[in-house]
Amino acid sequence: MKRYAVLASGFGSNLQALIDAQRKKKIRGALALVVSDRKGAPALERARKAGIPAVFVDPARFPDRESFDKEIIRHLREARVDHVVLAGFMRILSADFIAAFRNRIVNVHPALLPAFRGAHAIRDAVESGAKLTGVTIHFVDEQVDHGAIIAQEAVKISAKDTLKSLERKIHAVEHKL
Ligand code: GRF
Repeated sequence: MKRYAVLASGFGSNLQALIDAQRKKKIRGALALVVSDRKGAPALERARKAGIPAVFVDPARFPDRESFDKEIIRHLREARVDHVVLAGFMRILSADFIAAFRNRIVNVHPALLPAFRGAHAIRDAVESGAKLTGVTIHFVDEQVDHGAIIAQEAVKISAKDTLKSLERKIHAVEHKL
């Protein structure tokens, strides 16, 4: 069975969806490691609760992105990880990281790429007046929020939607995809 790691900076609801799916045997693959760049990330707590090894790698300990990424790669290799899932990992990966796991890194983005790239995709969609946004699961390449698309699903934005209500709808689709 392939082994995969999840990189997450925050709340970890997508990580939780993967943990739950694995528990229900809905996905193949073994979640071998969770890595976070934030010490107090709820994602780390979710992993520990599920009995999955979880590490915090402190970006402040490294002079640049390359050396920080190298440390993450070391953890991934040590855990014999084949694939990497970015689930709310709020950092841009170095070219070396992408090369080390080429076509084996997947990201979840809360918009229909190539629309609304960047860290505020849901807010940007609401503010744009668009009637449609969604979720994209894609392979990661050297460009941000770019790379071959694996799955997409649209989410309608109604006139009554607020940032909060749209976030809720988008997250539900993310967890399913
Ligand atoms: C999700 O909206 C994901 O699309 C984006 O970051 C958010 C992470 O949420 N990349 P969570 O930490 O999985 O709850």
